[in-house]
Amino acid sequence: MNGGNHSVVSEFFLLGLTSSREIQIFLFLFFTVFYVASMLGNILIMLTIISDHRLHFPMYFLLANLSFIDTGVSSIATPKMIYDLFRKHKVISLKGCITQMFFIHTVGGTEMVLLIVMAYDRYIAICKPLYYLNIMSLRMCTSFTAVAWTIGLIHSVAQLAFVVNLPFCGPNKIDSFYCDFPRFIKLACTDTYRLEFLVTANSGFISMGTFFILMVSYIFILVTVCKHSSAGPSKALSTLTAHVTVVVFFFGPCIIVYVWPFPTLPIDKFLAIFDALITPFMNPVIYTFRNKDMKVAMRRLFLKALNFSEIFPQRILF
Ligand SMILES: *[C@@H]1O[C@H](CO)[C@@H](O)[C@H](O)[C@H]1NC(C)=O
Repeated sequence: MNGGNHSVVSEFFLLGLTSSREIQIFLFLFFTVFYVASMLGNILIMLTIISDHRLHFPMYFLLANLSFIDTGVSSIATPKMIYDLFRKHKVISLKGCITQMFFIHTVGGTEMVLLIVMAYDRYIAICKPLYYLNIMSLRMCTSFTAVAWTIGLIHSVAQLAFVVNLPFCGPNKIDSFYCDFPRFIKLACTDTYRLEFLVTANSGFISMGTFFILMVSYIFILVTVCKHSSAGPSKALSTLTAHVTVVVFFFGPCIIVYVWPFPTLPIDKFLAIFDALITPFMNPVIYTFRNKDMKVAMRRLFLKALNFSEIFPQRILF
């Protein structure tokens, strides 16, 4: 493995987050709770929206899509990280590494575009309510989601295409709990300066661009709400504050990981926890669980489930 121009590296060692036993135990509990909670929350949202015809509107389809993406986001690196926490040798194969990067960037890129679509949806609903049904038809909504997935896929493949054939011959330690371009590229035994620039340009551009567009659209919405309503502003302000918080949590780490001029910061592996775990958990809380119609629909779903068990009384007895 060490040196030798001709030896080939086929697996990498992840150094993980920490080697302290106490912190590992804490992280294990913390990650497990957040992971299970975000999976349950997002699956509940999808079930509620899909099963309730009263919620078959563009806004709710977008929320269901966001939840679907969030189950993906939290499942790419987190289960392996939890499984690896107490292991001394955290190994990942070259193929596993590339697969992780592919999914992280496909799903991450899609989520960014979807957040823009959702902001646009709110903008039309609040600023041009009379045209809402014309502009955000179901057909339009489906096209938007298709576009989001296409952009995510192109974004991901465009970066992977440059790294799949990189030669690896020596260093094989990744100081993180998952594989991503900045650290991965650094291990290749070739001049990687142009690749690093490419990743910064691609991932950095998409995260900064999306962040900027979202902020501008939130400001637009806020200004419109303040101008046209006397009772609305404080409620709108609290909603928007919640959105901006999530957006900062989601994009802050991305921007630091990709746009920060190399060398990579040691802290960014901890920041990545926000994207891998915290935002998929917070999205349902911010976007969906505060919504009145969603709360009503979830209550209906629970009641339906209860009635279902009354048809089979033995399930209640035992
Ligand atoms: C995503 O949105 C489309 C419509 O735009 C909808 O048909 C589909 O069911 C949604 N996906 C999920 C998982 O809810």
